[in-house]
Amino acid sequence: MASKRSLATKLGVIAGFEDPRAALEQYPTPPELAAHVVHLADLHDDIDGRTVVDLGAGTGMFTLAAALRGPARVIGLEIDRDALAIARQNERRVAASAPVHWLHGDATRAPLSVPDPVTVVMNPPFGAQRDNRHADRGFLRTASELAAVSYSVHNEGSREFVESFAADHGGEVTHAFAADFRIRKQFDHHAESAREVDTEVYRIRWQ
Ligand SMILES: C[S@@+](CC[C@H](N)C(=O)[O-])C[C@H]1O[C@@H](n2cnc3c(N)ncnc32)[C@H](O)[C@@H]1O
Repeated sequence: MASKRSLATKLGVIAGFEDPRAALEQYPTPPELAAHVVHLADLHDDIDGRTVVDLGAGTGMFTLAAALRGPARVIGLEIDRDALAIARQNERRVAASAPVHWLHGDATRAPLSVPDPVTVVMNPPFGAQRDNRHADRGFLRTASELAAVSYSVHNEGSREFVESFAADHGGEVTHAFAADFRIRKQFDHHAESAREVDTEVYRIRWQ
C-alpha cells in the first residue's frame, strides 16, 4: 500500500471548482484530508476488490483518492455537470488504475444498484449556507442503503446527530476524529482569503 503522504501528493494536481455554487456547498476537500480518510478506509476495510462510492463527488477528490488504491471500481455521483467535467479532466491528470464511473444524479435519491460490498466516502453539504441544518441527512440515508461501511465529513458538533441517525438506520459509529478543513476564499460572502473550518469524520458500519 502506498503511503498516505504519497497519496496526498498525487492528489495535489486535482483542480477545484471553476465557478463554485454556494447553494451546493462546493468546497473542495484538501488533498491531505481525502488521503487520510481513504488511507484509513484501506487500513480498516481493505478496499481492494470492493466498490467505492463517492456521494457528491465534486471535482473528484475522494473518488480519485480511492481510485489510486486497488478497489474493483469507484463511482463518483454528482449533481453538477460542470463539476463532473472537471472531475473527468482530473481523472486524466492522476492516471488512476481502478475503473472510475462518473454519474450525474441526486445523491439523496440513490439512483444506484451496486455490486456488494460497498464503501462510501463523502464530504456532503453541511447545510451551512442557508437554514438547511443537516443537509447531510439525505446523503447518510443513501449511505445506509448502499454501504457496508461509510466514511463521511461533517461540521463540528455533529456527533449526536450522526450517532442517532446511524442507530435509527441499522448502523453504528465505530470511529470518529476531528479534522481541520481549510477553505480558500471563493464566494463573495467570504471575508478572509482562507479560513480553517472544524470538521469531524465518522466511520459508520451499516451491516
Ligand atoms: C462539500 S462539496 C465536496 C466535493 C468533493 N466531494 C470534494 O470532496 O472535494 C459537496 C458536493 O456535493 C455536491 N452536491 C450537493 N447536493 C448534491 C446532491 N443532491 N446530489 C449529488 N451531489 C450533490 C455539490 O455539487 C458538491 O460538489
